[in-house]
Order: sequence, then C-alpha cells, then structure tokens
Amino acid sequence: MSKGTFHIKTFGCQMNMYDSGKMADILISDGYAQTDDAQAADVLIFNTCHIREKASEKLFSELGTVRKLPSVKVVAGCVAQAQDELVIKRAPFVDIIVGPLMYHKLPELLKQKQKAVATEFPSESKFDFLSMPSGRSKFSEFIAVQEGCDRFCSYCVVPYVRGAEYSRPPAEILAEARHLVSNGAKEITVIGQNVNAYHGGGKTLEYLLYKLAELDGLLRIRYTTSYPGAMTDQLMAAHKEIPKLMPFLHMPIQSGSDRVLRAMNRKYTVDQYVETVDKLKQMCPDMAISSDFITGFPGETEEDFQQTLSLLDRVSFASYFAFKFSARPGTAAADLPKQVDESVKKQRLAQLQKPLNQQRLRFNSGFAGKTVPVLMTGETHGYSPHMQVVNIKGLACKEGDMVNLKISRAGVNSLVAEGFDS
Ligand code: SAH
Ligand code: SF4
Ligand code: F3S
Repeated sequence: MSKGTFHIKTFGCQMNMYDSGKMADILISDGYAQTDDAQAADVLIFNTCHIREKASEKLFSELGTVRKLPSVKVVAGCVAQAQDELVIKRAPFVDIIVGPLMYHKLPELLKQKQKAVATEFPSESKFDFLSMPSGRSKFSEFIAVQEGCDRFCSYCVVPYVRGAEYSRPPAEILAEARHLVSNGAKEITVIGQNVNAYHGGGKTLEYLLYKLAELDGLLRIRYTTSYPGAMTDQLMAAHKEIPKLMPFLHMPIQSGSDRVLRAMNRKYTVDQYVETVDKLKQMCPDMAISSDFITGFPGETEEDFQQTLSLLDRVSFASYFAFKFSARPGTAAADLPKQVDESVKKQRLAQLQKPLNQQRLRFNSGFAGKTVPVLMTGETHGYSPHMQVVNIKGLACKEGDMVNLKISRAGVNSLVAEGFDS
C-alpha cells in the first residue's frame, strides 16, 4: 500500500541532482510514490545548496511559500548540514533536517513522525545503503564515484558540508553503471567534488573510465569536476585512448593571479594550469576546456584582476561559470581582511564575462556548417560531444537518439541545427 506521495525540489550541483535521484529511489522502495505536484505532495523535500549566499537564501524564500501547506517538510542537502540551527530558527515548521551523508535514513525519520535532525558524518557510508534505481534509466545519467573534499580551498564550504573525501569501491560503481546501461542509459557522467582524486580500492579515475568504456550500449563518458593540480599524464592519455570519453573538460582555475591562487589555497600556479591545458590539447587536439572564476576574492587588486583577464590570451575557454566571491560562514576567506566591495566584485564579474562570452561564441562558431553527433535529451534538443546545447528546428527526433546534425547557426549559449547529415 502506498505511504503517500513525495516531491523533491533540487538546488545546487550535479551531486545534489544525483542525491535527489537516490532519495527518490529509497522512498519509492519504501512504498512512497513520486509526484510533480509540490502543492499536493504528502512529503515535500528541499535538497539544498550552500555554496554561495544566494544559493542558501533560495531555500528560505522557497520555504516561505510552502509554510502553510499540510505536508511533512524536509530540508536535505548542504544547507541542512551547515545551518541546521538556522533552519530551525527561521523555519520552525520544518519537520526533518537531513544532511547529504544521512539521507539513507529518510524512511526511518519519516516513520518516527516527530521532528528530527540528522546531520552527523556517519562512520558507515551511505552508499552501502542505497539501492539500484528501479525502472528505465535516463539517457544521460550521473554516477557519484567520490564525495567530500580534503583540499580546503579557503573560500569553499564543500569540505564542511560533504565531509572528508571518500571514494567508492570500483566494483560498486561498475555494478551501478551496468545497471544504468542495461536500463537504457547512453551517457554516463562520473561525478565527484574532486573527481580526478578518485582512489577507490587503490584504483585511479582512468581505471574506471577504461572499464566503463567496455560497456556495450554506453556511447558517451564524461567526468566532472576536476581539480587542475590532479590531472595526471595517465588521465590525460585516457582522452586519447578512449573514443567514448568526450573531449570536454571542466577544470576550474578560479583566478589568473598566482597571489590570489595562493590566498585561495589552490596549490597550483597559473603557469602550471596553462601547461596542463597545453598538454591536454597536444594529446587530444579537439579537447575543449571550461572553467570557473571567482571575482573579488579578499585582497584581489586591480592588477590581480587584470592578470585574470590576461589569462584569456593564453587559454581560450569553450565555456565557463563566473561568480562574485561570497563570504561563507566558517571558511578561512570569510575572515580575511581587505574584503572587496560588492560593487567592485560586480563590475569585475561583468568585465570578465565579456571576453569569456566572446571566447564561447568563437568556440561555438567553429561548428557552423559542420556535422556534429548529438545525443537527444528531448525531442528538439540535445548535447554535442563538447557539451554544447543543440536546438533543432523543423526536424523530428526521438529522445535518446544519437543523430548526426548539420549545424546552421551558433550563438553564445547554443547551436542550431536544421538538417540531418545524409
Ligand atoms: N570542486 C570544484 C569546485 C566546486 S564548487 C573545484 O575544486 O574546482 C563550484 C564552484 O563554485 C567553484 O569552482 C567556485 O568557482 C565557486 N565557488 C565556491 N565557493 C565560492 C564562494 N565562496 N564564492 C564564490 N564562488 C564560489
Ligand atoms: Fe571546494 Fe573544490 Fe576546493 Fe574542494 S577542491 S575545497 S570542492 S573548491
Ligand atoms: Fe552546493 Fe553542496 Fe553541491 S554546497 S554546489 S549542493 S556540494
């Protein structure tokens, strides 16, 4: 008999999307049914992100809109982990607060029918308690292979909200991959906060990639997010050796100033980053790189910022995310002197976005007139090998199809295709 319905609203990164999928699997196998209707759900779950202030604040504004609903309200994810007391204070009507490493306990917590806070870092791994997803896979799926981080970049909350780095054993990951592929997945993105530091069972990330490549039916493999200091020659060589491994790498540099990188505790220099990019492109000429940037890190001078702009003369990025520095409670950078004015952060962000958008447009324009293999993620859109969104006009495709499309136009954010390649 059904125990009722649940709805999950997800904020934040791919890891949270993966976790939301796993929470859904757990609740479905416990007798609940998933619904798209947040208003009508018996259990309403917010899977939250704490990475920047804006992300955290989203939770509180969302909670304000649902406070009167009769549902059981659950706050899961990284805000739950970092700010359980604040959630209780600001939203006393929340019933359950559960951290990212404790959600395997959700069925128990719901059964207790009383307020509960579960935000320990348990000694057991949640992965030991997760079941295989039921039903069809999505055509593009994530597998978390590694969670948590020991790097402690001075601005970042991840080590505090996700705990120490943990790599899952290869056998467990490969069993999950086989299951997903036999149920229809065509693309797998291997995810971890620091994915190239993967070391499960003494194996490396490239070991997993070679193993995944053996799976019949799996057409594309990706991994994210990579820490630039951990790109080994062997991992770079895998891009040359494995045709299914897509030629696109998200490898955040954060700043183009060595002084700022030192203050961020990133432990690499701009030269080292550029060398890594050059090496990758030498090994695999169609390799495209994307990055994250932070503007207005405490102490960032105009000269430091100019160095970030100059980096773009040395590396051409296919895509990017750029953020204003956000002081996060408990991190080292939040307490640094010389915090940069909000207006300066904002102005530098806009100044950086301009050339980065030009680079993105230049990269995308290179595909106009070319034929690109596209994995359809809907009837009218899909993804290229380089993670470009391809919108199709006047054609009918089936979700999940891999089709060769002729690109007619390119913009900053997407490509347009108006014909199949015959
Ligand atoms: N593990 C990845 C980053 C994960 S967080 C890595 O090491 O590269 C995703 C991105 O959010 C980061 O790359 C960074 O650019 C941004 N970010 C993290 N903390 C931030 C903060 N306090 N303020 C602004 N941006 C931040
Ligand atoms: Fe955060 Fe990434 Fe640094 Fe880890 S390596 S502390 S996840 S920015
Ligand atoms: Fe956000 Fe947590 Fe991911 S803080 S970016 S959801 S690891």
